[in-house]
Amino acid sequence: MNIRDMIDLENVSHEDLDEIIRLAGVIKENPSYYTDHCHGNIMATLFYEPSTRTQMSFQTAMLRLGGKLIGFDNPGNSSVSKGESLKDTIRVVSNYADIIVIRNAFEGAALAASMYSKCPVINAGDGGHLHPTQTLTDLVTLSYEKGRLDHLVIGLCGDNKNGRTVHSLIKSLSKYEGNRFVMISTPELRVPQYVIDCLEENGCEYSFSESLEDSIAELDVLYMTRIQRERFASQSEYESQKGVFVLDESKMKLAKPDLRVLHPLPRVDEITVGVDDDPRAKYFDQTEYGMYARMALIIKMLENRRFSVPKKLPDTHNHVKCTNMRCITQTEEYLPKRFAQSGDSLICGYCEHEAE
Ligand code: NCD
Repeated sequence: MNIRDMIDLENVSHEDLDEIIRLAGVIKENPSYYTDHCHGNIMATLFYEPSTRTQMSFQTAMLRLGGKLIGFDNPGNSSVSKGESLKDTIRVVSNYADIIVIRNAFEGAALAASMYSKCPVINAGDGGHLHPTQTLTDLVTLSYEKGRLDHLVIGLCGDNKNGRTVHSLIKSLSKYEGNRFVMISTPELRVPQYVIDCLEENGCEYSFSESLEDSIAELDVLYMTRIQRERFASQSEYESQKGVFVLDESKMKLAKPDLRVLHPLPRVDEITVGVDDDPRAKYFDQTEYGMYARMALIIKMLENRRFSVPKKLPDTHNHVKCTNMRCITQTEEYLPKRFAQSGDSLICGYCEHEAE
């Protein structure tokens, strides 16, 4: 792999991605061959936000490779509760671990962590921004369940605004030829501008829909997501959005026989349990693919690891402040400013939001 850290799949070449997907399949067929592959290595899982699948699937992946684990899933029990900065926590933990997996509520947190880490860092979700290893899971699932990652009509239904898995998946699949995207949500929960920009840059066809019923028949893949309650400013705003899109058996009757339904989970009420037994529902198989995807990723990253703190970047646009209140620069004020010029606008290098 030509990268040290896994922050955004955008930085991973297609060759490396193909290799990880292929290796995940090989491990799935011969898991016993890999039981000692990472013997002697330690993974730190630093989960500042709740998780079931991602954390346990990383931990299981490392244990199945013969490695060991340290970390926390309740920062309240760590020095974070005493006011320790992200930078200090990472500097310390990267002296102990060979690889760090981090989930944090602030957007750009994994990138910030990688700037102070001696060892490779994996982004396990940074707020409502990105979730590249869920996308890896989704790509492995699609490769084996659909047999291809190109020329697909992909429906994304639910919280397209706050769903980080949606953003990472669109960014990735937009790089494959012939994919078309149907983004099904209320107008309030449409994907952020940086996702649209990515579709435009890659010349992808896309459309918006407000009806799952009207759109389902044309889809090869339906990616359902829950409404992300924790990202709403108030309970009433959340209440007004929840329960709008529900996939049930009657809608499945309108879909293609080879549709594949994916969901990063957890499910709340957006897929009825009656759909679970439909052979086109793949969201529980997806969790198994995810473990093999993470085993493959860990192997590749440890094979190529480089232990050194990346060079400190110079500040760009030092006078500008990111206006996204969920950006990591709001709380970790020592971070160097990283803005990129895009036309007349400045885009924050941590959270990808436009500075006003
Ligand atoms: C997702 C996440 O945390 O973003 N879950 C996961 O990692 N499998 C989706 C979600 O929480 O809705």
